[in-house]
Amino acid sequence: MISDTLQKARDFEAKYAPRIPDSERPAFHVTGAIGWINDPNGFSLYKGEYHLFFQYHPYSTLWGPMHWGHVKSRDLLHWERLPAALAPDTDADPDGCFSGSALELADGRQFLLYTGVRRVRQEDGSIREYETQCAAVGDGVDYEKYPGNPVISADDLPEGSSDRDFRDPKIWQEEDGTLCCVVGSRVADGSGAVLLYESTDGFHWHYTATLDACRNQYGRMWECPDFFPLDGTQVLLVSPQEMRPEGLEFHAGYGSLCLLGSYDKNARRFTRERAQAIDYGIDFYAPQTMLTPDGRRVMIAWMQNWTTASSQPNGIRCFGEMTLPRELHVRDGRLIQNPIRELESCRTGRVAYENVTVDGRELTLPGVQGGIIDLTVTVCPAGEALYRTFTLKLAADGGRFTSVRYKPSENIVRVDRSRCGFPHDIVHVREFCVRPRDGELKIRAVLDRYSAELFFNDGEQAATFVLYSELNAPAEGVSFQAEGTAEISVEKYDLVL
Ligand code: FRU
Repeated sequence: MISDTLQKARDFEAKYAPRIPDSERPAFHVTGAIGWINDPNGFSLYKGEYHLFFQYHPYSTLWGPMHWGHVKSRDLLHWERLPAALAPDTDADPDGCFSGSALELADGRQFLLYTGVRRVRQEDGSIREYETQCAAVGDGVDYEKYPGNPVISADDLPEGSSDRDFRDPKIWQEEDGTLCCVVGSRVADGSGAVLLYESTDGFHWHYTATLDACRNQYGRMWECPDFFPLDGTQVLLVSPQEMRPEGLEFHAGYGSLCLLGSYDKNARRFTRERAQAIDYGIDFYAPQTMLTPDGRRVMIAWMQNWTTASSQPNGIRCFGEMTLPRELHVRDGRLIQNPIRELESCRTGRVAYENVTVDGRELTLPGVQGGIIDLTVTVCPAGEALYRTFTLKLAADGGRFTSVRYKPSENIVRVDRSRCGFPHDIVHVREFCVRPRDGELKIRAVLDRYSAELFFNDGEQAATFVLYSELNAPAEGVSFQAEGTAEISVEKYDLVL
């Protein structure tokens, strides 16, 4: 049964989304049909197709009562739009269907596990929010919410955990059939923790362990946890609120945190060994991963940031997009990420240059430009002397550009989008360290009209930026410049889907 609330959302998107021209959207990044989107949800395989849901408010480009939007794909690049999947329409979720995850049940139904939000007026007149975990099952298009919702409630919380900040269940199935999920919570010290729950059927859960806790070290509340083994390491991803800066590794505000360690499955004990940022750019939050049938761990994230998300381009009708799906690995104790290999089949029109000298003059190369491109630039010293800086300008046109500057003596990359064309004074600059390689740096930039996803040294670091040059007037220039003399090799493809 489709509720009136969900039907209204479906009717609204069916009527107004077709009026948004393709040019207002990126070419191959997922957007909502209309309105606002945030976190990816339910990123999973169902009946041989990739499904992706997301936090969705169709009625305006600002966050509002959360629905789930829905798309599916066979290759993670071409996405087919499906009608909105969930709306806040039951006693367990009257004020929002917050983030969650999905999997295919043994009986062939698609199972969704998400956070139901209820706002309750207190005696003193204030509003208090309660978060519980709810289930829905469906056929890949329409979903029936479980009448017994919530399936995980405040009664299932360990001592001291908050029922106000208790959200974003990420589900998976163990080899023995046990269903597990991790949920973000806030414990007595006011900061985040990741709780593990287990179930045999998805509808009855019990708490089994607290896998890790923030102890006010990495921000406060930990949102959107994900937990999986990868290349012999156990990975815990969380999205912390209120991070404090730490060197150039973590910046203040909404962050992305990858904890690497080991997991004793029998004892349900995670031992944290290392911590790093997941993405070093500005627009990356709430990542979620899935395992592809050929065994790849693929991650997708919201390509935005809560602090800046209310500054929007004039006239935009669908706000928010997802990052490219990225293949993950762990190498030398670090998380490695690169665009999914399917992107390579969309490359055309190769233009390449070898050993080009770059100095103080701004250099452009014939054929090296474009707004929807996959560009790799390798920069190294020209001869004995180390260049002082190397600057790659992207999305340039007249006075507009975004710069990626590398200072090899310090191994620092600085990305500055303050002149990308966006007329709002939001955070525009990020600096981060890359691993020293004797002055050599490999930059892969994937541009899709309104974004630049940067991958350094074969995925050792990623940095993601939204570039609202101007709707319908994307800037397409690319240039190179150095202080001192550097040598570059360049390979550029247009991306055509
Ligand atoms: C993260 C988040 C989640 C929550 C959702 C609400 O971006 O705050 O914790 O479920 O967004 O839209």
